[in-house]
Amino acid sequence: MVIFGIIATKGGVGKTTLSANLGALIADMGLRVLLVDADIQASLSKYFELRFKAPIGLTEVIGSGIVTESAISQTVWDRLDIVLCDAPHRQLASDSASSDLERYLQGRMDMPMLLRRALRSPVIDENYDVVVIDTPGAQGPLLFTAALAATQLVTPVLPETPSAREFRGGTVELLRKLGEAEILGIRPGPLTAVINRAGRTNDARLVMEEIRQSYLEFSGQVRVANTVVPSAVAYNEAATARAPVHRMRSRQAFMTMHELVWELLPNLHGVYAGGELVDSSAAAQEAHDGCA
Ligand SMILES: Nc1ncnc2c1ncn2[C@@H]1O[C@H](COP(=O)(O)OP(=O)(O)O)[C@@H](O)[C@H]1O
Ligand SMILES: [Mg+2]
Repeated sequence: MVIFGIIATKGGVGKTTLSANLGALIADMGLRVLLVDADIQASLSKYFELRFKAPIGLTEVIGSGIVTESAISQTVWDRLDIVLCDAPHRQLASDSASSDLERYLQGRMDMPMLLRRALRSPVIDENYDVVVIDTPGAQGPLLFTAALAATQLVTPVLPETPSAREFRGGTVELLRKLGEAEILGIRPGPLTAVINRAGRTNDARLVMEEIRQSYLEFSGQVRVANTVVPSAVAYNEAATARAPVHRMRSRQAFMTMHELVWELLPNLHGVYAGGELVDSSAAAQEAHDGCA
């Protein structure tokens, strides 16, 4: 069982987009995929249309420490299910957001293990090949428990120098923090940085090299994916159409996402999505790709 934790220490870098599109493509390649929305903003929960909405979601999963059938919702896409984030998201102050779920986690001694244990429930073992967890864009108990539940971490990085610096500051600090869990017998999974929203003007290779330099102390634990995700309108169009980007009429997005999946899951190398293209009028209209 592969459990991807899609993490970053800031918002807006493409975690939810990547979670949705990776999960959907892997499902379309024939594997059974469970998305887990561990971000109280619940963007992943709203990303795809549902065929069936389960009575419970993440709050109860974390509270009970187990995933049961009643926590699993189904998206309209075959083999793509989801544990919805049902934690109410409250704005406490203009710049700080928290939730009962995060306060609950904060108060638990076994916080780092909570999601990890729940995702090892029999219903997941028996019914899924891959789990993809979307996480909040700020350090906190929900991000920690989600990151420690993963067997592989993936972090989108914007190809700007401040972003590479933020990677060094934020993500490297997060890795150190996750490393503290070794005392509990939990070893965080290897991290793959994926350059996301690369424009034609910024030099993604330069940023990749800079990131490589910044994680030398974690050599063996961090790598930069060779696949670079370009900035393309297809990703926004897919989100609007509530469809996986590989089903939009963008050859580039189709290939990029395939190459990324092949890199992350080498066993799937050469396997293509079997689904039909989405033929929404919006998708057909904006058939071409462009730089956002
Ligand atoms: N490769 C891409 N090209 C263009 N836009 C993208 C790409 N990836 C993500 N986006 C856009 O960036 C914005 C932030 O993405 P999102 O996945 O919500 O980030 P996060 O979950 O990290 O906050 C969204 O509007 C999304 O459509
Ligand atoms: Mg998000």
